[in-house]
Amino acid sequence: MNVLDISGLTVRAGDSTLVDNISFVVKPGERVGIIGESGSGKSITSLAALGLLADSLVATGSVRIEGREVIGTPDHEIRRLRGPAAQIVFQEPLTALDPLMRVERQIAEPLRRHLHLHGAALRDAVREALAEVSLTEPRIARAYPFELSGGQRQRVAIAIALAAHPRILIADEPTTALDVTVQDGVLTLLERLATDRGMALLFISHDLAVVSRMVERLIVMRDGVAVEEGDVRAVLSTPKHPYTAALVASARALDAAWDAATPGTERESS
Ligand SMILES: Nc1ncnc2c1ncn2[C@@H]1O[C@H](COP(=O)(O)OP(=O)(O)O)[C@@H](O)[C@H]1O
Ligand SMILES: [Mg+2]
Repeated sequence: MNVLDISGLTVRAGDSTLVDNISFVVKPGERVGIIGESGSGKSITSLAALGLLADSLVATGSVRIEGREVIGTPDHEIRRLRGPAAQIVFQEPLTALDPLMRVERQIAEPLRRHLHLHGAALRDAVREALAEVSLTEPRIARAYPFELSGGQRQRVAIAIALAAHPRILIADEPTTALDVTVQDGVLTLLERLATDRGMALLFISHDLAVVSRMVERLIVMRDGVAVEEGDVRAVLSTPKHPYTAALVASARALDAAWDAATPGTERESS
């Protein structure tokens, strides 16, 4: 069974169509990317996938998480699906964090709710969850979100999202708000976690270089429409849609500019 199955998804706000008849699937353990410029409907698609759309938006078509329909399902029923089946990490980690709660309590909460841990087992699990996202300083567990750097906050948000061992993680521009030097560490972490857990990943980005490093299959979105989909190497080497070709050409031009500006230097694989 597909972990995520989106079929004919359309999202409207009044008369305007934000996402237009999108279909794709994510199989267990598979890594799929969505690439597109700002405003192309990537976040709307990812929110619709988890039944998190604002009330003012109307979704039609079908979104199934492990076979269970999301569209038209009451929120309290979808919430039960979200923990162990599907989770999301946003661009801005503060949206996922409670500013008034210490990190350890925020990580403990989903562990208690979904894995029914308590007492010493819960404390151990919190420590393990932090270690898994490479946050081992004891200070971090006791800290409030504002006492952490952007990269540390995103690692905490990832730890919270992964606490219930979801079968799919949707990462919506998870490194876009981070400094370039920190981005790489968070991407490497997500790659490692997905591999270690055999977890499926729907990775969303406006940055072709970032998304093609993370995924096997790519969906290209423009103005709410999926204009192209395919194996990431095929899409990069022989883009079919002019928009995809333009994205690839501009990424290549950046690469060439880098090579010209820094002759003889080793380029980082980002
Ligand atoms: N709640 C909303 N109501 C109306 N329009 C919205 C809402 N949220 C987003 N949009 C519009 O939907 C389009 C797609 O947005 P979004 O999915 O956030 O783009 P992306 O994530 O690709 O940058 C944009 O034109 C945006 O302005
Ligand atoms: Mg977005």
